[in-house]
Amino acid sequence: MTDTVSRRSALRLLGGAIAVAAAATGGLTPPAHALDRPDAGAGPRVEGLIGKLTLDEKISLLHGATDPDSPGQAGYVPGVPRLGIPPLRLTDGPAGVRVTRHATALPAPVLLASAFDPSLARRYGQVVGREGRALGQDVLLSPMVNLIRTPYAGRNFETLSEDPLLASDLVAAEIAGIQGEHLVATVKHYAMNNQEQDRMSIDVRVDEQTMHELELRGFEAAVNAGTGAVMGAYNKVNGTFACENGTLLTGILREQWGFGGWVMTDWFAAHSTAAAITAGLDMEMPDGAYFGIALKSAVQNGSVPERYVDRAVRRILGVMERFGLLDGSVPPRPDRDAPAGAAVALEVAEAGATLLRNEHGTLPLKAGGSVAVIGPTGSVPFVSGGGSAHVVPDHADSPLDAVKSRAGKVTYALGEDLFGKAIPASALNPAFDSEGQQVAAGAIWTYDGTLTAAETDEWTFVLHFSSAPTARPKVLLDGTELFPQAPGYGEFFTGGLVSAAPDGLSVRRRTLTLAKGAHTLRITAQGGAGGLTFRLRGSTGATRAQDVAEAVAAAQVARDVVLFAYEDATEGLDRTTIALPGHQEQLIEAVTAANPRTTVVLNTSSSTSMPWLRRTGAVLQMYYPGQEGAAATAAVLYGACDPGGRLTQSFPADDDHHPVAGDPRRYPGVDGTEEYSEGIHAGYRWYDAEGVRPLFPFGHGLSYTSFSYEDLRARRTRRGLEVSFTVRNTGRRDGVAVPQVYVGPSPHLRLDQAVRVLGGYRRLTLRAGERRRVTVDVAARTLSSWDTGRHGWVLGTGRRAVWVGASSGDLRLRTNVEVSR
Ligand code: BGC
Repeated sequence: MTDTVSRRSALRLLGGAIAVAAAATGGLTPPAHALDRPDAGAGPRVEGLIGKLTLDEKISLLHGATDPDSPGQAGYVPGVPRLGIPPLRLTDGPAGVRVTRHATALPAPVLLASAFDPSLARRYGQVVGREGRALGQDVLLSPMVNLIRTPYAGRNFETLSEDPLLASDLVAAEIAGIQGEHLVATVKHYAMNNQEQDRMSIDVRVDEQTMHELELRGFEAAVNAGTGAVMGAYNKVNGTFACENGTLLTGILREQWGFGGWVMTDWFAAHSTAAAITAGLDMEMPDGAYFGIALKSAVQNGSVPERYVDRAVRRILGVMERFGLLDGSVPPRPDRDAPAGAAVALEVAEAGATLLRNEHGTLPLKAGGSVAVIGPTGSVPFVSGGGSAHVVPDHADSPLDAVKSRAGKVTYALGEDLFGKAIPASALNPAFDSEGQQVAAGAIWTYDGTLTAAETDEWTFVLHFSSAPTARPKVLLDGTELFPQAPGYGEFFTGGLVSAAPDGLSVRRRTLTLAKGAHTLRITAQGGAGGLTFRLRGSTGATRAQDVAEAVAAAQVARDVVLFAYEDATEGLDRTTIALPGHQEQLIEAVTAANPRTTVVLNTSSSTSMPWLRRTGAVLQMYYPGQEGAAATAAVLYGACDPGGRLTQSFPADDDHHPVAGDPRRYPGVDGTEEYSEGIHAGYRWYDAEGVRPLFPFGHGLSYTSFSYEDLRARRTRRGLEVSFTVRNTGRRDGVAVPQVYVGPSPHLRLDQAVRVLGGYRRLTLRAGERRRVTVDVAARTLSSWDTGRHGWVLGTGRRAVWVGASSGDLRLRTNVEVSR
């Protein structure tokens, strides 16, 4: 254990180990008879069908297959037509429907969460619900509710928050929206899938208290909201894969929470047949490696009693019946309502826009003023993240055009080159047109020559190609392949923006230092069925300097600068640093030195370190803002709406000061195991416990106006606490306040407790000068801790502090309240 892990953490870890041991010896693992218990709730229709289904038919319902008529969704389960059981089509995902057809590309879920508004989450769910059904789908593989635990996790944009209360409220509302449109929701990824590195194998060691107080709360809220399905995670939890973990799948999900729907695997996350189905897994996706022939043989040879198959079928058919899919009572599929989807996408992006800094009245910008727009994502819109959250948008406008519609004179400079420049013909011997090679179907094109570097320099080679990633040209420089295939599933995990050029060609990059002189270059390109188009580009120190010089020149002559900075994320990959990628830090330094009235707009997945922060006028976090992102960004920049978002995660100052820094056992894991040794002190709870200042705290976000908070009162009610206070808009503009209520620990509990936790919040729009009395209910659950000794919640009684503030780091008022039983 390194020095940075406190003694308290070490004790918590020990506690975790004990809990794990208890679970292994039966502490939480349900007894065998519980696993055998038929689920309650299946009606006579379902029981009748189970009686009529053959074993083969039952098994065909328990795993994925190839869809003969697929619009490109992720999963398919054939029905049993002879008994009127229709097929199920299962589609991603968290930011809109992911098929090959157009859909509303909604803002990333983290942007939705930033609005702190469950009613908006419900409408977001309604859009996806309706579109899913309109696009021929029955089940949505969303929402994702895993907590943001590490700033490096590749899916932080796809999920909601580091805080379990906020995540629970939002996931419940979103599920209500999705399922209200008759699409089955699938909450994912159950559970502890909090990072992408080694996600297929990492063994998360976490104690019972931590698990219940943090990660599991969102899943429990999803179950209470009636989610039809749950997706099991790839990783292991306390030694057992999530998709065959009896503690998770039966002990907690069924026995404690009373879940009545079905559990499917994440894609290729099954590892066994008998162990998985008896532990509580119902469906394997996307194929039948374990729940196909192997399951049939297991039933036939007696190693899996058929009642487990029946149980899984009952759970699936039970949900289908609930949604009217068995008797045809489900409403007819609606048409898409693209304008309504776009309106919600715009509203969410505006509501979640989070203004982190605004000095010297930099924002809002003056309409009609001169502006320099800088950055690649200023002209190519950053719509959505990569992996299964990627959506084919109806349209995507450029932020540059959106700014032009409100500004006077606008100049644009690239600043940072994502797609490379043409390699000068003079550097290639023999010369060839590296800008646009066409290879006919079936033909093979080769190049064998040299590339000469004028001086030793850092080069980024950029390959653009039209074929499938696996059929891309092979480029060998000095005998080394520049763009090798990523192993396994890896090619799927390319980012949302940087892996495609503006004209749609796929893009791969490779950065290396090239010594002065000639280097051998060999290219082999094969034209597939439709032929192949490719280009090989590059950027060097000289081209980078030129790009920065042009950006500086544009910044110098404009009144204001809007610099778009990006970071591209995808499932399957974690970041290795929270710094902006490429040479963007240097670009920001140079541009802010030329013009301090610079607003940096961040299109990043999660937190970002900002060594350049003090040089900027303003910083606006827009994450991945969806197809209406350009309009929303411009509306906020020009003050057409107040930036209504607040951070749903703490932003660390740097890579060395955050909850998982400094101990690889905590993140990313050592020898396949990872210890959640921060215990219940995750997110802002860790900063408070350790006395570390984040760059920006959880809940932070500025408005264009200011608010005061007065007259805080708290009283005990039957359901928890009622906290009331007055918020006043003290500025001259209308604006959005998001007051947050935090609650301190109980003096009576002998369990580990946080310095304070979020107890409630309210998003409200106040006119200039308006004051409003606000009442926030704090649920008894938030006042309770999980007692591992009793395997249950205990209310934290006694005198407890209550704060109201503008963020977890900006507490304005405090009072105390006596919590009695
Ligand atoms: C992801 C899931 C997704 C599934 C189907 C997996 O790689 O982890 O979130 O739903 O693919 O696309």
